Amino acid sequence: MEKKFKRTLITTALPYANGPVHIGHLAGVYVPADIYARYLRLKGEDVVMVGGSDEHGVPITIKAREEGVTPQDIVDRYHTIIKDAMAELGISFDVYSRTTSDIHRRTASDFFRKLYDDGQFEQQTSLQPYDEQAGEFLADRYVMGTCPHCGSDRAYGDQCEACGSSLNATDLIDPHSRLTSAPVTMRETSHWYLPLNKWEEALRRWILEGHKEWKTNVYGQCKSWLDLGLQPRAVSRDLNWGVPVPVEGAEGKVLYVWFDAPIGYISNTKELLPDTWEKYWKDPESRVINFIGKDNIVFHCIVFPAMLMAYGDGYQLPDNVPANEFLNLEGDKISTSRNWAVWLHEYLRDFPGKQDVLRYVLTANAPETKDNDFTWADFQARNNNELVAILGNFVNRAMVLTHKYFGGEVPQAGTLEEIDLRLIADLAKVKENLEANLDTFHFREALKDAMEIARLGNKYLQETEPWKVAKTDMTRVATILNCALQLCANIAVAFEPFLPFMSAKLSGMLGMESTSWNELGCSTLIPAGRKLGEPVLLFDKIDDDAIQAQLDRLARIKEENKIKNFKAEPQAPDVDFDTFMKADLRVGTVLECTKVPKADKLLKFLIDDGLGTRTIVSGIAKYYNPEDLVGKQVCFIANLPPRKLKGIVSQGMILSAENADGSLVVMGPTAPVVPGAQVK
Ligand code: MF3
Ligand code: ZN
Repeated sequence: MEKKFKRTLITTALPYANGPVHIGHLAGVYVPADIYARYLRLKGEDVVMVGGSDEHGVPITIKAREEGVTPQDIVDRYHTIIKDAMAELGISFDVYSRTTSDIHRRTASDFFRKLYDDGQFEQQTSLQPYDEQAGEFLADRYVMGTCPHCGSDRAYGDQCEACGSSLNATDLIDPHSRLTSAPVTMRETSHWYLPLNKWEEALRRWILEGHKEWKTNVYGQCKSWLDLGLQPRAVSRDLNWGVPVPVEGAEGKVLYVWFDAPIGYISNTKELLPDTWEKYWKDPESRVINFIGKDNIVFHCIVFPAMLMAYGDGYQLPDNVPANEFLNLEGDKISTSRNWAVWLHEYLRDFPGKQDVLRYVLTANAPETKDNDFTWADFQARNNNELVAILGNFVNRAMVLTHKYFGGEVPQAGTLEEIDLRLIADLAKVKENLEANLDTFHFREALKDAMEIARLGNKYLQETEPWKVAKTDMTRVATILNCALQLCANIAVAFEPFLPFMSAKLSGMLGMESTSWNELGCSTLIPAGRKLGEPVLLFDKIDDDAIQAQLDRLARIKEENKIKNFKAEPQAPDVDFDTFMKADLRVGTVLECTKVPKADKLLKFLIDDGLGTRTIVSGIAKYYNPEDLVGKQVCFIANLPPRKLKGIVSQGMILSAENADGSLVVMGPTAPVVPGAQVK
């Protein structure tokens, strides 16, 4: 970092309050931002971290309509869930507010009005989807129709979820309104546009020349946007949920959610620091850092900076935008609408007291340079093999040995030997790497550096073997354990940004009153003679049952989604009546049903068919217990030529229906009938 800043404003993308937050949000935005904020605070720097819920926008109105409640009800509910869960995870916001607050609505409204008065907007008319029956313009999400690419009849006016293509409402075949099902018409409407083209050159200079140090994924995305050339962007919408456009004659129009939300960073700072907020935004010795996910890059690097430049008045552009890629869950994209996520508030309920485990796993797997995958197996392995076996184990050994040999008092170190000096030198190196990685937003690597302290500690105890030395030389044991305890104290400091709960527990055991980053690397952090607390385990093993319960939940969700998204096969070509009537369909009663040996799919039936008995083999063994079918009545085709299956002659075929997940359900009459009854 060549330039030295006096203070830092950390902003975190405002999560939409149309659902709870999940591990993808955390890994992408909140955990890295929190690590960075805690790191700077620990260094004694002037830092402020702001956040809040993004409470406007169309998805919130859709959810409200689906549930028959108001948008305000929806955002009240999720704002509370999000805010409480993030606090419980230890995300250390200095303020966590919301975009429906008065201060935000006023700030956003004034921001628009100043740009309007300064002539920074162009007014343009365009044709927008309209619902004649409801008398309302329709947001793209409110238009549904058939996808021109894959034929799915559930495509939205902005995207087809079946094939993933992005769409315009006008691309849809047979577009209709999700409000009333009425066919959609196009109607002229007028909106305000921010002419991004006017700011293109300034943006090019600022990013492409001025910020080559940005992460390559961020820089690259900005470059491709800029190379395509920027167009004016509408900053208002016809909608009844949002900040009203503060211009006469703009009834029924609100600020576009992506116009008002980033202004939330400003209103949140104002709310926190009514008197001094401006210096965080406008003093050239301050810097702003935006933590976001990759889908937000264009808004933070192009649109919002253009808004700030248009506004002027000393607002500074962000110094860095360390955007992350996406975290997937068990190989599939996380999705709020498909419930494919690990929700933070549910995690906290299912794994009480294990905040740091989640923080650890999400940092170790952070999607910093590419998309990454969260799996429960990896979660368990990292807890058991790293947190328990490396970190927890080292601290516990140092504590237990001190209690055993010195009654829990920090022993006085004697003359340091070469191995001790090497340990101290290694620690200094770790500190250097750790800082370099934290300063450049490489949090995964930084976490590895912090873990290195515990690895060094385990190796040190392994090599010095104080339990053996204790038989001959207690002075040496004192030195070894003093060094080991100093390492523990360093762990408490180094991990504070990553695992604050563990760090607090450990500092408590070591009797450290406060931790400061400057002490890191120091081998005299805790004085000899100090009485230590009782050793408590920092982490415990997570057993297979807890993991299986999570996997079972995901499997259930997968099944539910299959059923929700089931699309019936198109109808088969006509068959003439006489041909159909040639099939002799009958009902029979199952007399016996057994598994076919060496064939895991097959069941063998003995059926009373009214004429006698017949044997039928059917491929439904995966879905039924054979005993459960005895006595049941089933439909079968009687006049198929006999067929040999696994050596058994099957005289016909039992009818079953295939469910969305591929499972089979046997067909039978809805009331008892005589065996041999014909199905017509
Ligand atoms: N709500 C947006 C999202 O989840 C993020 C808004 S960030 C802000 O993608 F800058 F607009 F606040
Ligand atoms: Zn499609």
